[in-house]
Amino acid sequence: MPRPLRVAIVGAGPAGIYAADALLKSDTAAEPGVSIDIFERMPAPFGLIRYGVAPDHPRIKGIITALHQVLDKPQVRLFGNVNYGTDVHLDDLRSFYDAVVFSTGAMFDRELRIPGVELDGSFGAADFASWYDGHPDVPRTWDLSAEKVAVLGVGNVALDVARILAKTAEELLPTEIPANVHEGLAANKAVEVHVFGRRGPAQAKFSPMELRELDHSPNIEVIVNPEDIDYDEGSIAERRKNKQTDMVAKTLENWAIRDVGDRPHKLFLHFFESPVEILGENGEVVGLRTERTELDGTGNVKGTGVTTDWDVRSVYRAVGYLSDELPKLPWD
Ligand SMILES: Cc1cc2nc3c(=O)[nH]c(=O)nc-3n(C[C@H](O)[C@H](O)[C@H](O)COP(=O)(O)OP(=O)(O)OC[C@H]3O[C@@H](n4cnc5c(N)ncnc54)[C@H](O)[C@@H]3O)c2cc1C
Ligand SMILES: NC(=O)c1ccc[n+]([C@@H]2O[C@H](COP(=O)([O-])OP(=O)(O)OC[C@H]3O[C@@H](n4cnc5c(N)ncnc54)[C@H](OP(=O)(O)O)[C@@H]3O)[C@@H](O)[C@H]2O)c1
Repeated sequence: MPRPLRVAIVGAGPAGIYAADALLKSDTAAEPGVSIDIFERMPAPFGLIRYGVAPDHPRIKGIITALHQVLDKPQVRLFGNVNYGTDVHLDDLRSFYDAVVFSTGAMFDRELRIPGVELDGSFGAADFASWYDGHPDVPRTWDLSAEKVAVLGVGNVALDVARILAKTAEELLPTEIPANVHEGLAANKAVEVHVFGRRGPAQAKFSPMELRELDHSPNIEVIVNPEDIDYDEGSIAERRKNKQTDMVAKTLENWAIRDVGDRPHKLFLHFFESPVEILGENGEVVGLRTERTELDGTGNVKGTGVTTDWDVRSVYRAVGYLSDELPKLPWD
């Protein structure tokens, strides 16, 4: 009797689960069908949807319902607490399956190579996101004693980190944050959050909707310095080519020309400031040094040699995520 095609999927994030869904909907699903085993290193599935997406993004968290429906299919089995590379190896998978799909995502903070990253009060955004999403591998408590905080990078993770730091614990209470996170955020002293982009508004990686959302909190005053609005030929071409880039730039321009209001927590979006050093005393963060940059015509920037020291007591590095090398697989 013919047997089903046996497929192993490593990683139960959205990519792995949607791969299972696609297989179940493909020609492969016709008799004798397909049987899928998903291996996941965490005790629970859904990857960064569970342990990365911010708690005040319930719409995205909600895709868990759709992912659950795939895991509920009788052709799919999920094996949690199984780490590829230690608990299961390529040779095992090759001997038991017709095909193996790797969908292990990107879990770690990209390194930022500047002096001072090792200081107390210098945090990776991935660790902070893991904390507020209740990841079992990170401590239950977080030091939120700094009144002035810097966030490095102008991508969506920087927005998440800045927003969670600038919102009040009460605003986040209706979300699914764990009790320890609510308690930690209730003790958060941050009243000024400074987000730094090393390039300009047309180079920010924000999504337009996530950027506009910053302004929806009754507690967050978003402030953009008009001097930080600048475009070169490369930026103008990018705005013409990419609608999202244009929408982000327009939102930032609007914020730069409006009057500053009186919402209690100030969130500054700075551009053309490249982090060069996290300043420390006695092993703790006491500031951030940035170098002013300027556009070079192509949308990239060059340093001007002019530095500024910012009075901040915590620095969050949100400069991108990196995946990890998997044993016996090519890695870029
Ligand atoms: C902080 C953060 C917030 C985000 N917020 C949003 C948002 O609001 N909206 C949005 O649209 N997108 C958001 N994203 C992007 C979105 O989360 C990712 O695009 C998506 O999760 C990627 O899916 P994936 O399946 O490729 O990887 P992941 O979600 O990372 O899943 C990979 C899975 O593989 C497992 N795994 C890794 N290594 C192994 C191993 N060796 N053995 C077994 N299993 C392993 C991991 O534990 C994980 O469960 C966010 C991303 C980050 C980093
Ligand atoms: N939709 C959502 O709500 C949401 C939320 C979170 C994450 N995500 C997604 O998750 C993915 C990861 O997001 P991310 O924000 O981590 O990464 P990202 O979008 O790649 O942004 C990284 C930021 O860090 C900056 N950076 C990199 N190296 C730097 C350095 N040495 N010095 C200063 N700045 C530096 C980059 O600037 P340069 O451009 O100059 O390199 C960029 O602004 C993205 O696809 C994102 O859209 C989505």
